[in-house]
Amino acid sequence: MNPKKIRFSQGRVEYYFDGSLKKLGQLTDKKKTIILTDEHVFAAHQDKLKGWDVITLKPGEAYKIQATVDSVIETLIEMQADRQTTLVGIGGGVITDLTGYIASIYMRGIRFGFVPTSLLAMVDAAIGGKNGIDVGEYKNMVGVIRQPAFLLFDPSLLQTLPDTHWSDGFAEIIKHACIKDRSAFRTLEGTDLKTIQENKRLLSWLIQRNALLKTKVVVQDEFESGERKLLNFGHTLGHAIETQYELSHGQSVSLGMVYASRLSEKFLGFNGTDRVIRLLEQYGLPTAASFKMDKVLSILRMDKKRVSREMNYILLEKVGKGVIYPIELKTLEQELLALG
Ligand code: GLY
Repeated sequence: MNPKKIRFSQGRVEYYFDGSLKKLGQLTDKKKTIILTDEHVFAAHQDKLKGWDVITLKPGEAYKIQATVDSVIETLIEMQADRQTTLVGIGGGVITDLTGYIASIYMRGIRFGFVPTSLLAMVDAAIGGKNGIDVGEYKNMVGVIRQPAFLLFDPSLLQTLPDTHWSDGFAEIIKHACIKDRSAFRTLEGTDLKTIQENKRLLSWLIQRNALLKTKVVVQDEFESGERKLLNFGHTLGHAIETQYELSHGQSVSLGMVYASRLSEKFLGFNGTDRVIRLLEQYGLPTAASFKMDKVLSILRMDKKRVSREMNYILLEKVGKGVIYPIELKTLEQELLALG
């Protein structure tokens, strides 16, 4: 396997596109590695994990909390993990977040790598080094920015994913297209989920293009003082909706992107909302839902993107061009309430 090596502030990250989980042993010494995964991923891929030390967690965002971190750390101590140990997270965004966070604090930091198993993790969650946990209803409130040593992409792992999980990944892919990639937006308009699922080359191309798009943004602004904020398109409201309602991350972000597009009309004269909505629907994502905006706004006020009385909202000037747009919190709340 030939990696693409990307330099971040703390060192290089090796990206193995079109890799294979079966070849994990080429990237990390089996005897000095502990795998962190969840019960679903373990059940689907246990044949490929024979002979590895594995910690298996219960699946789901509800477990992305400090109690899980404490219990994994206790297990690592029992397993006598030391500074030579590599922790490898095999799973979706919850597992990559937990792995990156635990590996960053265990013994003040050990080597870690990711094998993302969901489309969302491949194009977004596994990339960028922000790894953390939720605190109550506040998502990703505690965490670190620390890059993995390697990322192993194995698109064949996606075969067992249900369609709703694919759609979650497309929420982030469409987000990337909206803020930075007009050409990919057009490509996505011209195809559909089923075609991409059945076309290995197109799928690999899409994964690589999106993983590298995100990487480029992160490399330019790893600690999120500017450009990286663009990746929050649809996420400000999205996160607030996600913590209050039974919606997946992708579904919540999809709704967040619709609202952000409407705010873009209002503040920047954006005229592509209909195209954004059509594309989200084309990939099985919701564009309307009934939720209590005042409940969502109370969470939004605690968002990490809030600076004093302003929120750095991500809006679209046009399809493929996102901008950071500070909006006074009061004005934002009024506008969102007006949108309903
Ligand atoms: N782990 C996701 C990110 O760094 O953005």
